[in-house]
Amino acid sequence: MIIAIDGPAASGKGTLAKRLAAHYGRPHLDTGLLYRGVARVLLDRGEPLDDPALAAAVAGALDMGALDESRLRGREMGEAASLVSAFPAVRGALLDLQRRFAGQPGGAVLDGRDIGSVVCPDAHAKLFVTASPEERAARRHRELASRGDPTPYEAVLADIRRRDERDSTRSTAPLVVPPGGRVLDTTALDPDGAFAAAVALVDASLAGS
Ligand code: DC
Repeated sequence: MIIAIDGPAASGKGTLAKRLAAHYGRPHLDTGLLYRGVARVLLDRGEPLDDPALAAAVAGALDMGALDESRLRGREMGEAASLVSAFPAVRGALLDLQRRFAGQPGGAVLDGRDIGSVVCPDAHAKLFVTASPEERAARRHRELASRGDPTPYEAVLADIRRRDERDSTRSTAPLVVPPGGRVLDTTALDPDGAFAAAVALVDASLAGS
C-alpha cells in the first residue's frame, strides 16, 4: 500500500505523513530531505547551487542513511533545496531511490511535491495537502519563533510565496494536484482535525470510493 502526500511548503504535509505512517504501520520518507541533503553537501563543499551537473552528481551519490535532519531544516536549506530541485537531472538522480523506498514489501508513505504525479503515479491513495499562504506563514512563523529564530512574519510569508512560485512553475515535475489526488485544505483545521480528515480521505481511496 503506497500513500502519496504532496503539497506546498509549510502545508503540514510532513506532520500528517508521519502520523499517517504510524497509523497505517508503514515506513515514511520525507522526500524534501533528499533535496535538502543535496543542497547541504554542495554548501558544505563551498560549491555553487546553480550548476546542474554538479548538483546531479551529488544527488546520484546521496546516501539516504547519512542524512542528518538537524542540519537540513531551517529557512536557508528550504530555499537552497528548492533551487537544486528545479534541475531535471537532480530529480532524475533521486527517482530510483524514492521508487525503491516506495516499492518495499508492504508499501510506504512518501511526502513531497511530485509523489502522486511522478514518483508513484500508481499510489493507492494520493493526498494534496494545502492551506492558504497566510496560514502556512503563520504556522511556520510560530515554529521558527519556538526555535528562537526571530524572522518576522512578513519575511516568512515572502519566502513561502517565492517557493510556491518556483515549485509550481518549474518545467519538470511542478507542484500540481496529481490525477486521482484528493485535496485536503487544512486552513481552518487544527492538527488533530487535519489528521482525522486525512485518514478519512485515505480510507476512502483505499476502499475505492
Ligand atoms: O518539503 P520541503 O520544504 O522539505 O522541500 C524542500 C524543497 O525541495 C521544496 O521547496 C521543493 C523541493 N522538493 C521537490 O521538488 N520535490 C519533492 N518531492 C520534495 C521537495
